[in-house]
Amino acid sequence: MATTFPELDTRDLPVGAHAASIAAAIDGLSVGGSFILVAADDPRPLLGRLKADGHSGIEWSVLELGPERFRVEVRSRVGPRTVTDFLEGDHQRLDAILQQVARLSADGEDDEARERFAEFETGLGWHIDVEEEVLFPAFETNTGSTNGPTTFMRTEHVAIRQLLVACGAAVAGAGDVQRAIDELGKALAAHNLKEEQVLYPVSDHAVGGDAEREELVEKIQAF
Ligand SMILES: [Fe+2]
Ligand SMILES: [Fe+2]
Repeated sequence: MATTFPELDTRDLPVGAHAASIAAAIDGLSVGGSFILVAADDPRPLLGRLKADGHSGIEWSVLELGPERFRVEVRSRVGPRTVTDFLEGDHQRLDAILQQVARLSADGEDDEARERFAEFETGLGWHIDVEEEVLFPAFETNTGSTNGPTTFMRTEHVAIRQLLVACGAAVAGAGDVQRAIDELGKALAAHNLKEEQVLYPVSDHAVGGDAEREELVEKIQAF
């Protein structure tokens, strides 16, 4: 079962036509709509430029980051967002992919399960990196707390990354997939709940006003 989103593959287009074709796809998005952008090089800098250039109603998630191709899910977005909205939404997006991997693997669709797991791995890697490199430093600066929740979350990230590696090995054929997904899923559920109930809301509150909050969300999105 391949992804059902429409796809825009720029690899066969002349380089000079990339921006215009992506801009047209963005402008054609309905509310809540999305498409998968496929490219030979990382398309995120171009998406950032298009966004700054008036095609602003979008956000995106990485599905594949090279080396041979890049795939990014581009979605329409409405109104200002909070850190809680944005990253809780990413938790839900990743949970749904992991559940798909479990289903596909149970059905014996091993190739498809591996493809979806690769998307999960890329997405969770991005998610943890953006928390550690953008969100947690902002939290620490804005709250003055450098040895509290962020230290605890970083420690949990180390354990989650280890479970992710074990899960990848299982999906690749070297272990019990359902058990590995179950263990990773449990660790993520407990971790995500703490972030959603404490760290994200405090980040939203501590950053200052609406403009500062939107700026932080944009920084997270652009990472
Ligand atoms: Fe986290
Ligand atoms: Fe998170």
